Amino acid sequence: MITLKDVQAVKDIQELIQKADDYLGALGFTDHGMNHIEMVTKRALMIADKLTFTDEEKELVGIAAYMHDIGNITGRQNHSIAGSIMAFQLLRELHMDITHISKIMTAIANHDENNSEITDTISAVLIIADKSDVRQSRVREKNRQKFDIHDRVNFAVQSSSLIVINGNKEIWLNLEIDTSLSPMMDYFEIFLSRMLLSKKAAQKLGYHFHLKINSSILA
Ligand SMILES: [Fe+2]
Ligand SMILES: [Fe+2]
Repeated sequence: MITLKDVQAVKDIQELIQKADDYLGALGFTDHGMNHIEMVTKRALMIADKLTFTDEEKELVGIAAYMHDIGNITGRQNHSIAGSIMAFQLLRELHMDITHISKIMTAIANHDENNSEITDTISAVLIIADKSDVRQSRVREKNRQKFDIHDRVNFAVQSSSLIVINGNKEIWLNLEIDTSLSPMMDYFEIFLSRMLLSKKAAQKLGYHFHLKINSSILA
């Protein structure tokens, strides 16, 4: 089986991640480069591990997470669909089994909140890991006067943790937000749809999704 390590070793894929992020950077988006990819991959694997996925499923989750944002190279809109089709070609070149490729394609194609149907557990894990990555270091803009709402919200997040509690079947996203840097309403304006999608994704896994900001349990 083609593993996450095999995919991570492919220079072309590394370059696509970098170039897609350069493009988004030029458009003023927050970090979608290797730091984001590593964070999402790490969290996706953590969830898969806690939920006792098979070794094969863990590899698929890891690969889907690693490749999920390559489609940004073609533009932000529909980047999930573009990335899915790009993954088909790239994984074909590695002679990956079509059954595995199709699972990764579905997960990548459905990771965006504007265009998502969650039909399987690999897609569900990718969504929760991706939507949980909110942090100060994702902000590229150095001048705070020029911050947009995404910059403000990410900049205000002092820490975040994603925790899976098997016994209660709960997944918790815990955020510490400095509300002097960004009002809570800003967070909800851009994150409500992502949190609702995370909730649906957790349901697909048979879990409840909870969001805690500072000391308030909001969901
Ligand atoms: Fe994305
Ligand atoms: Fe992402």
